[in-house]
Amino acid sequence: MKLHIADMLRAQSAEHISFHTPGHKHAGGDITELSYSDNLYSPQGVIKRAEEDAAKILGAHSSFFLTDGSTSGVFSMIYAVKAAGGERLAASEFSHPSVFHACKALGMKIVPIPQAVRWGIPMQPDEKEVAKALQRADALLLTSPDYYGYFPPLAAAKELCRTQKKPLLCDGAHGSHLHFCERYAGKFADMWVDGVHKSLPAMTQGAVVSAKENWAAQLGEAVRVFRTTSPAYPILASVEYAVKYPRNLVIEEASEAFKRGHGCLINDDWSKILVPFGEKSSLAQAALEKNNIYPEFNDGNFLMFYLSPCTKKEELGTLGALLDGLPRGEVGEDAPQGGIPIYREGL
Ligand SMILES: Cc1ncc(COP(=O)(O)O)c(C=O)c1O
Repeated sequence: MKLHIADMLRAQSAEHISFHTPGHKHAGGDITELSYSDNLYSPQGVIKRAEEDAAKILGAHSSFFLTDGSTSGVFSMIYAVKAAGGERLAASEFSHPSVFHACKALGMKIVPIPQAVRWGIPMQPDEKEVAKALQRADALLLTSPDYYGYFPPLAAAKELCRTQKKPLLCDGAHGSHLHFCERYAGKFADMWVDGVHKSLPAMTQGAVVSAKENWAAQLGEAVRVFRTTSPAYPILASVEYAVKYPRNLVIEEASEAFKRGHGCLINDDWSKILVPFGEKSSLAQAALEKNNIYPEFNDGNFLMFYLSPCTKKEELGTLGALLDGLPRGEVGEDAPQGGIPIYREGL
C-alpha cells in the first residue's frame, strides 16, 4: 500500500535549502509544513490522503493523526462530548490520568465505574457497574484493552449507549494492533484513540483518534484545539506506516502458545504477556536484564512483556528458555504495584 507521507519525504531534493523551521536546518525527514508537505491543521494533500486511508483501515468515518500521543486524543474526545452539551462522563476508576486531566480542564464531572482489584490488577468493570454509572452520565469512556490485556464489556456498552443515545468513547492507547479483530474498540465506539506507538511500529507519540460519522465533525473541531500546530513529519510518516503494517498471525499464535506453555496469566490480548513471579519478580527482572531482555514493567507480582507485530518468534524463544530457569514466587493478592503506573485520581 502506498505510504503518502514517507514517499513525499523520500522525494525531497537533496539540494533542499532550508529557510524554514526547524532550526537545525538539516531538512531530511524533519521538515515543517511547506508548499508540498501539506498542513496538519487543515490537510489537503499527503496528510489528507494518509488520514483517509487510515480511516478506511480502522473502520472510521474520519481519522486524525496525532504526534503528541494518545493523550491529545483523549482530550479531544472528551472535548467533543463537552462541546455537544455533555456534563458527566462515566469512566473506569483506574482510567489513565489523561481522562481525569481532560475532565478537570474541561469542567466535566466523572462518574466513576468501580473496578475490583485482583493480584494488584484493576479488573475491567462488569456490565452491571457500567450500566449503573451510565445512568448518571452523558457519555461512557472505557479503556480497551487495558495495560494488562483485558477487554471491557464492549458489546454490552455499545448497546447501552445506543439505547440511551449516549456516545461511547474508547481509550485504545494499548489496542491499535487489534484493528484486524472483532474485539477492536473501533467496532464498538463512536470515538476512539489508537496508540499506534505502543503496539504498532510507529515512533513514540504517534497516535490516531477516530470517529464514526455521527461524531466526525465534532471530533475534527476538538482535535484542532489540542493537537500541535508543529507536527513532526517523521512521526506522521510512522503513524501511516504503522496503521498500514500487516497483521502478523505467526507472532499472535506464538504468543498464545507461549502463555499456555510458560504458566502465564491468560488474558485477552496476545500482545501482553504476564508472567507471575510474586515476590521474586525483581530478582527475575534483574536476571533477564543481565541477558539483555527488558520487560515493559514489573508490578511486584508480574513481569509484563509487550509484543507487537514486529516481535520475532526467535525472541520469544529466547525469553521462554530464560524464564524456565527462573524461580517463581507466590503472587500476592495486593501487589506492591512497584514499577507500573496505576492511577486513581481526581475522583
Ligand atoms: C490507557 C492509557 N491511555 C492513554 C495513555 C496516554 O498515551 P500517550 O502516552 O501516548 O499520550 C496511556 C499511556 O500510557 C495509557 O496507558
